[in-house]
Amino acid sequence: MSLLIKNIKKLVQIEEHQPVKWRAGKDMQMLPCLDDAWLYIENEKIADFGSMDTMPQLSAVETIDAKGKMVFPCFCDSHTHLVYAHSRETEFVDKLRGLSYEEIAKRGGGILNSAEATSQTSEEELFEMAMQRLNTIMRLGTGAVEIKSGYGLSTESELKMLRVIRRLKEESSLTIKANFLGAHGIPMKYRTHQEDYVNLIINEMIPMVAAEGLADFIDVFCDKGFFTTEETERILTAGIKYGLRPKIHANEMAVSGGVQVGVKYGAISVDHLEQMGQVEIDCLKNSETMPTILPGCAFFLNLPLSPVRDMINAGLPIAIASDYNPGTSPSGNMQLMLSMACVRYKLLPEEAINATTLNTAYAMDLHYELGTIAKGKIANIFITKPIPSVDFMPYAFGENKVETVILKGKLQA
Ligand code: NIG
Ligand code: FE
Repeated sequence: MSLLIKNIKKLVQIEEHQPVKWRAGKDMQMLPCLDDAWLYIENEKIADFGSMDTMPQLSAVETIDAKGKMVFPCFCDSHTHLVYAHSRETEFVDKLRGLSYEEIAKRGGGILNSAEATSQTSEEELFEMAMQRLNTIMRLGTGAVEIKSGYGLSTESELKMLRVIRRLKEESSLTIKANFLGAHGIPMKYRTHQEDYVNLIINEMIPMVAAEGLADFIDVFCDKGFFTTEETERILTAGIKYGLRPKIHANEMAVSGGVQVGVKYGAISVDHLEQMGQVEIDCLKNSETMPTILPGCAFFLNLPLSPVRDMINAGLPIAIASDYNPGTSPSGNMQLMLSMACVRYKLLPEEAINATTLNTAYAMDLHYELGTIAKGKIANIFITKPIPSVDFMPYAFGENKVETVILKGKLQA
């Protein structure tokens, strides 16, 4: 199967030489583009591209004329919880009436509410709902997504969620990574002896998850009111023993020590980071850990904003993901995250595009396969509607600028 896209107004985020792992600091403002271009896709991969005056003669090839339209690499969404049983708008209204996220969690709402619903929902139903969500985000330009468990909180339900994710990997056109998040909340029955739940994760859940090869990563909600740094260390150590690379929730509610634990255990990313000091920023320098910001969650919970500019000025890379989940970010729309990255965190459009493509690809260990338009990378791209400029993407918030999505070289309906 081969496909030629011609007359592309602008081919965005190209890499002509050796692909880079991420863009950090000042380099986040680099967004190499090619005007008036063609792109050739063969057998799921990007075979070649160039400017129109160099287009080769290719016969018997499906051709798309993209006049007036731009081509981008698809968004990579490196942090979601999109397998869930039901929405939580009742808690949304509770919050409007004045309750905090932590207060709702303490009385058994929040994550525990979703866990209860998950336990009562079949694998088939969870799969159907998640598949619909994947199709929705795909039409908005997302081509790769990380999905966490963590609404199970029992061995049976955690495995159920991970099996749903495995089936999504098999049946969806998106590229998917699975993250085991047994340490997402503390079930009510373990509230007075949290250590027993941590032991259950370490001694039962992790070995079973690994035995079935169900996860790529291991996650812990390392924060005030959830899991301590000591518990996080124990859980990560156990996960690493089974080949699971850490990728953790840190510093959302408090300066939790989560960043330091993440870096110490070689986490591929530390996510949230609303509560950051200079110590945390310094700790991330010279590490292999991607600081990841979740603008949807900060918006929805009215959290203080992560000091993104300070982090970039310190030379760090930044990734931006959706955190798509029913409690704190009921949207997986990466175009909206792009706009929020600019409007709320003052990223420039180029920085925001790097943060949602290449840098999120790194945070899923997919940076040599996705995240830019480069020869040999997987052909996950979208063609925009006719748009005037790259800056229009974050500017025109709330509308879908994506017209056509191509995943693994195939046009998506
Ligand atoms: O990333 N912070 C922890 N976990 C999710 C929230 C999950 C929920 O409330 O259901 C998050 O925001
Ligand atoms: Fe999350």
